[in-house]
Parts: sequence; C-alpha cells; structure tokens
Amino acid sequence: MQHILDELEKRREEARLGGGQRRIDAQHKKGKLTARERIDVLLDDGTFEEYDMYKTHRCTDFGMGESQPPGDGVVTGWGTINGRPVYLYAQDFTVFGGSLSETHAEKICKIMDLAMQNGVPVIGLCDSGGARIQEGVASLGGYAEVFWRNAQASGVVPQISVIMGPCAGGAVYSPAMTDFIFMVKDTSYMFVTGPDVVKTVTNEIVTAEELGGASTHTKKSSVADGAFDNDVEALLQIREFYDFLPLSNRANAPTLPTPDEIERAEESLDTLVPENPNMPYDMREVIEKVADEGNFYELQKDFAGNILTGFVRINGESIGVIANQPMVLAGCLDIDSSKKAARFIRFCNAFNIPLLTFVDVPGFLPGVSQEYGGIIKHGAKLLFAYAQATVPMVTVITRKAYGGAYDVMASKHIRADVNYAWPTAEIAVMGAKGATEILYRSELDDPDKIAARTKEYEDRFANPFIAAQRGFVDEVIMPRNTRRRVARAFEMLKNKDANEPYKKHDNMPL
Ligand code: HXC
Repeated sequence: MQHILDELEKRREEARLGGGQRRIDAQHKKGKLTARERIDVLLDDGTFEEYDMYKTHRCTDFGMGESQPPGDGVVTGWGTINGRPVYLYAQDFTVFGGSLSETHAEKICKIMDLAMQNGVPVIGLCDSGGARIQEGVASLGGYAEVFWRNAQASGVVPQISVIMGPCAGGAVYSPAMTDFIFMVKDTSYMFVTGPDVVKTVTNEIVTAEELGGASTHTKKSSVADGAFDNDVEALLQIREFYDFLPLSNRANAPTLPTPDEIERAEESLDTLVPENPNMPYDMREVIEKVADEGNFYELQKDFAGNILTGFVRINGESIGVIANQPMVLAGCLDIDSSKKAARFIRFCNAFNIPLLTFVDVPGFLPGVSQEYGGIIKHGAKLLFAYAQATVPMVTVITRKAYGGAYDVMASKHIRADVNYAWPTAEIAVMGAKGATEILYRSELDDPDKIAARTKEYEDRFANPFIAAQRGFVDEVIMPRNTRRRVARAFEMLKNKDANEPYKKHDNMPL
C-alpha cells in the first residue's frame, strides 16, 4: 500500500516541477514567480484545490511525443480569497512558454464551466506565448472554446485577468473579453503580434515594452485597468479588489463592517469649490472624503484623467463611482473619458453595484479631432450606459452641469434615483460668458453691456435652484453632509425594483 501512496507523491512532485528547475530559475531571474507560487499569494492559505494536475497534451508532431509534462502548462482549480470562493487558472511559462494546447484549453474550459454553474468568478493569471505552435488548428480551436465561454460568462460571473508575462496572439484575446485586466510593470506584455512581426509588416521598429508594456496599456490604449510593481504586489492588490465584487449577477457584493460613521461631516468640503468658476479643484478629494475610511480603489488611473472611475464603500457597501475631474481638461467629456466611464457603468449595472456620480462638467470637448474620432457615437456610449442602468443611482452636482453633459451625467431625466446639488452648482445650457456672446452678439463691442448681460445670466442660472424648482434636483445639500446624504439615499434604494421592457438585447452604440 505504501508504495502506491509514494507513487502518488512522486507524480505530484513531478507535476509541481512544471518545465523543470532550470526554467523555474529562469522565471525567478526575470523577477517573476512561478504559476504555483502566484496561486499561493493570491489565495487564502491552504485553500487551493487543484484539478487536472496529471493532464498531458496529445500532440505527436514535431517531436512533441517525447515531452509530455503533467499539467500541460496551466495550473487550474479553486480556492478562496478572504473567505469567498474563486475559480482560477495560472499559466506556467516553464512549460512550452505557457502556450495553449488543446488540452491546456480543456483545463481552462472545465473551471470556467464550473464557475458558471456555481456562480463564482474566474481569475486568470496569464503568462503565455499564445497558441501552441506545434498543434496548429487544435490549439486555435481550444482558444475559441475559451473565447466562447468568456462571452457566455460575461455579465454572469465577474472575470479578471492578470497579465504576468509576455502574452501574445490568442493569449490577449481571452483577457480582452474579461471584465478587468491588470498588468505587472516591466515583466508583462500584451500584443496581437510582437515587435518582429510589426517590423516585417509595417517597418516600424519598436520594443516589446513600447508596443505592449504596462505603461502603453494603462496610458495609451486603455486595454489595462491598472498596473502593479511586481507579482506579489499585483496579487495582493487583486485580493483587495476582489472584495468589491459580488460572486455573480445573482449575488450582492460583500458588506464590510467599518468604524467610519455615516454621520461623519467634512467641513472642508464647504470651501472646496473655488470662487472663480474657472479654477480647478481635485474631485478625488470629494470621493475620498465621502468614502468609508477614505478608501477609493481607482481604475484606469492613468487614462482619460478627466473622468475618475473606481470603487468605494459607503456604510460598508460596495459602490461604483464616476466623477468628472476639473483638474484635467476642466472635466470635459471627450471620446476617451466617455468610453472609460461607459464600460465601468456597464460592469456595475451587470453585477448589481450601485452607482454614485459626482458632476462638474463644462460640456463635451469641442474640436475637429473629437468629431472626426466619433465623439457623437462614443459620447452616446456613456449616455446609453447610464440610461440603461437599473441599479440604484445617486448623483451629486458639485459645480458645473452644462449642456448635453448635464443630461448624460446621471441626470434625473435618464433615471438616476436621487439627485443632489451643492449650493455651488450651476446648471445651464452653457457657461454665462459663452451664452451671452451668442445671445447678445450685437452688443459685443460694448464691454459694460456684455458684463451686465453675463451677470444677469449668471444670476439666473449659476445656481441649483431653477433645477430644484422643477424637481430635477431633489435637494440642495450642504457639502459637508454629502457622506451622510449619499449613504442614506443608498440605504433607502436598497430594494429598488426597476422594470425593463422585453428585449433580446440592446443595440448600444459600439
Ligand atoms: C510553443 C512556445 C510558444 C508557442 C514560446 N514557446 N511560445 N512553444 N508555442 N506559442 C516556448 C519556446 O520555444 C521556449 O521553449 C519557451 O517557450 C520560452 O520561450 P522563449 O522564446 O525562450 O522566451 P522569451 O524570450 O521570454 O519570449 C517569450 C515570447 C516568445 C515573447 C512569448 O516565446 C514568442 O514570441 N513566442 C511566440 C509568440 C507567438 O507568436 N505565438 C503564437 C500567436 S498566434 P524552450 O524549450 O526553449 O524553453 C495565436 C493564434 C490565436 O495565438 C489567435 C486567436 C485570436
């Protein structure tokens, strides 16, 4: 009997070695952890249940029959993060560069199917050279099976991808279909085709880092939602992030008890908005002062800084925040900020996470490049995402809410539930100066007259009371009490029940 048990241990040992000590050392030398070491950091201690440890590929071409490492380049199974379950796969770069074979794909598909069945999220730790080149179409078929499941799971269970090595070809398309992508700085890359192919086809000379490093994808392409300094930091951050999410679309995100009283008043907010309407202030400060313990988990921090997106907790509940940022482009809406916020709103709505919107927006950014780039369609994405959202929505206008952007930013008209304004709010078709110049063009050469007209427009519209008279704003609140007002509004909206007309699905302006 003992020899049977020993045999099991031997097989396990062999599987744990992946592609062998030499390749493990090479992985460490690059500053990367192995697949199993990553799982150890990500999951609660001793909770990992591994599946398919002994599965091997079936390829015999190109001498592959002689090398059949158990596990076939991916470690799969489930465990818990802060006590809540998660299915995960971690690609093992030491085995054929983490490339995806037919059997490697079968392992990923198995845990995705279980995740869907059991209403549990999926995290992928990606470190893969893409399709296993020796397998040809069998590998491509495997990828497509994963892609199909990514689409099926979208909106059913949260899917998170952490890019932890060079990911090429198919290895980037599955992450692209998931809800969030995080990268590790300096050791991870994402590209459809690498620098060599780029040089051959377009004659552009570019490094892997420039083409698809964390900096590129967090600042330029917005493919990634965030980047971390190293493997350990990334995995610990994912543990924190995980707590903001529900397990599935049938569950609510966990409530985390907080010592932070909802009654906490923040007097500094009363004087945050400068007297001069053209002076910026940091909207991040508002978010942090309203959130439990000042904790704002920001997403897409380095992209489209004119809008802020991320998670906070208020009274322990997970809340998605969208906020115009007057410090960047005066908080204007443009193509990038509209796309960024729209996608975030759709995630929150799909997974029952209420939305809190802070508004200080002078309008859509004018310009030829914006029009040629399709701001009409991209801006409509944001409008569509808000208009379609049925989760509880609370809006606070801190200063400007001008023009179409007033409508877009979770106004009452597109069915936000509770709309508050600070006394500093200005709700108008446009700023007083611009309005006067259009309405009184014939008086433009008389500065005194224009100044009087501007003042008249300001007096009429540079306040929240016209909107409040119509009920478009429910209440004008003291800035210092924003946390309490918002917390109570969400409490009251907890059992919101929104009816939607029957449809197969919408046709959002993609
Ligand atoms: C099989 C692969 C592999 C692959 C790497 N390896 N990629 N084996 N199929 N796709 C193997 C290498 O042969 C090597 O084996 C080991 O993994 C490590 O690779 P290195 O090249 O030594 O590592 P590194 O220098 O770090 O470079 C990593 C890399 C590079 C950037 C990922 O290997 C690379 O460019 N690979 C090919 C990427 C690619 O073109 N993939 C196909 C994409 S097409 P040994 O034995 O030496 O350790 C695709 C189609 C799907 O994915 C599209 C669906 C939409």
